[in-house]
Amino acid sequence: MDTVLSGIRSTGNLHLGNYYGALRNFIRMQHENNCFFFIADYHSLTTQPDPKTLHENVKEVLCEYLAAGIDPNIATIYVQSDVKEVIELYLMLNMHAYMGELAKTTSFKEKARKQPENVNAGLLTYPTLMAADILLHNADKVPVGKDQEQHLEMTRRFARRFNNFYGVDFFKEPQAYNYGHELIKIPGLDGSGKMGKSEGNCVYLCDEPKVIEKKMMKALTDSGPTEMNSVKPEYIENLFTILKVVSTPDTYDYFNEEWNKCEIRYGDLKKQLAADVIKVTTPIRERYNEISNDKAYLHKVVTEGAEKARASALKTIVPVREIMGFKPF
Ligand code: TYM
Repeated sequence: MDTVLSGIRSTGNLHLGNYYGALRNFIRMQHENNCFFFIADYHSLTTQPDPKTLHENVKEVLCEYLAAGIDPNIATIYVQSDVKEVIELYLMLNMHAYMGELAKTTSFKEKARKQPENVNAGLLTYPTLMAADILLHNADKVPVGKDQEQHLEMTRRFARRFNNFYGVDFFKEPQAYNYGHELIKIPGLDGSGKMGKSEGNCVYLCDEPKVIEKKMMKALTDSGPTEMNSVKPEYIENLFTILKVVSTPDTYDYFNEEWNKCEIRYGDLKKQLAADVIKVTTPIRERYNEISNDKAYLHKVVTEGAEKARASALKTIVPVREIMGFKPF
């Protein structure tokens, strides 16, 4: 049985990119694997160190995990900061992570550009903390979206480096995973780039149907193709990428044909997209509203999750201490 682990930063509500990139895969995997899904609240500090919203953000993500279908009786759901062993492993891995390679990471360069007033060391060592999350449970598979590929590559490098340096065969080399398919990138609704919390181009899992319809209707289009079978411009291709994940193959083929014949009606395409997104998100939104006030249930989920995650973390951190030479007197 493989160990599967993934997490999402607690920086606000989850969107379609989070769902199709990570969450949905995880939900499908939970039945056949030893699964850990956590809320990355330490990671959220690199961009948003706001004590007033930290807890509420963690709670939102927790409720969205549960509402989307992670079953805490099967999988382990936990809050990253409840398992302090991750900090110890982060520190240890940092001693084998080099300034040059960390500064070259795409996510670091992007964040440093976006928040030049706050290029902190946590941002630089973001990939080491992520590697610590993964290696803490010696995970085999990590369901993530395309944007995390480089972080997984670094995790494997850190694992290999540790094994080589100490002459052991301790850490496995985890793989980014998308249920047998390529990793995906869900585009935003603004024509280019990926759907992302900080981009303002998201459809959220908890958006009301009216909001989803409005967002879809506003998506960028043009006056339509003028040549049969022409290549789609990026902003149209993006709508088809979303259609591919939310709709049936027949629906996708229908609109694709309409495009090829130059008969596409964007209004119909957007209505279809809105209807199919609403179909996927409605049960999640409804369940979210049911559980978000159930304090006792949420408390039970995170308490039991932390216990299970800590037991698993100890199986890694105790031997790692020994391998590195820490001994009790
Ligand atoms: P975060 O919070 O940015 O995103 C969480 C997950 O959602 C995926 N994702 C997307 N997938 C496809 N299309 C998109 N537009 C899109 N936007 C987001 C991300 O790929 C990710 O899988 N570093 C991670 C959190 C993390 C983590 C970990 C993940 C911390 N430790 C250990 C896995 C294992 C992050 O920032 O994700």
